Amino acid sequence: MGRDPDEVKITCNIEGKIALVTGANRGIGKAIVEAFLRRGVAKVYAAVRNPASADALVECYGERVAIVQLDLAKPETITAAADRTNDVEVVVNNAAVFKACTPFDASSLDALELGMQINVFGLMRMAQAFAPILRKNGGGAFVQMNSIASLKCSSSFATHSATKAASYSITQALRDLLNQQGTAVLSVHPGLIATDMSNAAALRGHAEPPSVVAEGIIAALESGVFHLFPDTMAQRIGSAYQSFAHSVIEAELSEYKNN
Ligand SMILES: NC(=O)c1ccc[n+]([C@@H]2O[C@H](COP(=O)([O-])OP(=O)(O)OC[C@H]3O[C@@H](n4cnc5c(N)ncnc54)[C@H](OP(=O)(O)O)[C@@H]3O)[C@@H](O)[C@H]2O)c1
Repeated sequence: MGRDPDEVKITCNIEGKIALVTGANRGIGKAIVEAFLRRGVAKVYAAVRNPASADALVECYGERVAIVQLDLAKPETITAAADRTNDVEVVVNNAAVFKACTPFDASSLDALELGMQINVFGLMRMAQAFAPILRKNGGGAFVQMNSIASLKCSSSFATHSATKAASYSITQALRDLLNQQGTAVLSVHPGLIATDMSNAAALRGHAEPPSVVAEGIIAALESGVFHLFPDTMAQRIGSAYQSFAHSVIEAELSEYKNN
């Protein structure tokens, strides 16, 4: 871990580190666990709702994977997981819920409420529980799985987009605050990745494998960037967004400074 004196970037090499990944049993979370193990992390805590759902990972990778029960809807499981994993150095908050819902659907308010509970309150509780642990363990990294939906709302899953916009906003605050304790913060914005969630979204277009996100995270942590647009669709949007991100999102606005 180190700070680039010119660009004030905090970098993190995952080799030899202890990591925790939420939603580790399937989809992008499982790919992150596997890529981290391939690339030399010492141990991964697979944080899952149902411990049996991560048994296959332990069978495959043995003691380098430890299963931790964590349900983002149940704050007490987040604090209990943090107590159990107080040697963790890299936290990846990947888990989320997705409901396809327009603002006019009868279930839209319920869908927004559930999405806020898991995708936003869950993120905030993860950050609250793990920030002191990351600080104690030398800084490390906090990775938040956001989305292209954080930037571009789709009317067919508007409530989901709203939760991902909110989690992106909180991630920006986490970057400011956690950087002060030497923790790298990475905001990941996948576009279309082949998982159960993208199947549920029924999007047209070529979905890329979850390993693209996992490998992208490792490289982004090594280079110390804040935004990651891992797949082809995400990169297209990310390149259009880059200038705004650089001069507004990643910049310090003098008007925002406290007196
Ligand atoms: N796939 C894409 O195209 C895409 C695009 C942009 C962003 N993303 C983001 O990438 C992340 C992973 O998505 P994915 O595509 O891999 O989805 P997925 O295959 O549907 O997996 C979702 C994961 O989240 C877990 N989860 C759901 N509710 C939870 C809760 N209350 N507490 C803890 N874990 C919970 C699930 O656990 P269970 O198995 O117990 O349900 C599962 O492990 C999400 O943040 C998603 O928004 C995905």
